[in-house]
Amino acid sequence: MKIIKCNNGNIMGVLKEVSDVSDKILSANSVDASFEKHIPNYEIIGDEVKLYVSHVMEEDHYIEWIMADYGDKEIIKHLKPHEEPMVVVPYQEGMKAYSYCNKHSLWLKDKIER
Ligand SMILES: [Fe+2]
Repeated sequence: MKIIKCNNGNIMGVLKEVSDVSDKILSANSVDASFEKHIPNYEIIGDEVKLYVSHVMEEDHYIEWIMADYGDKEIIKHLKPHEEPMVVVPYQEGMKAYSYCNKHSLWLKDKIER
């Protein structure tokens, strides 16, 4: 999945690419910030996986969403300040997980395996 940032600041997932959006595509793990505090961690429990981020959830600095990317579908959990940055979703081999920090942009865990 490609995730783009529009000129107005909106963050959008590209469902179908019909024109070149390469100048706006967000590049995961590219901001100079702590990897450990932004890249999703995971714990596989049976058929499910718990995705969580070890990040503060303050009013002005927090994880806005966590997304499980299965390649052919996504599950996204939107978060608010003071909520736990965690979601439990079905586990599937080859899945990836993204998180988005309001200050430090997009982060990706590209291998979630048993
Ligand atoms: Fe952050």
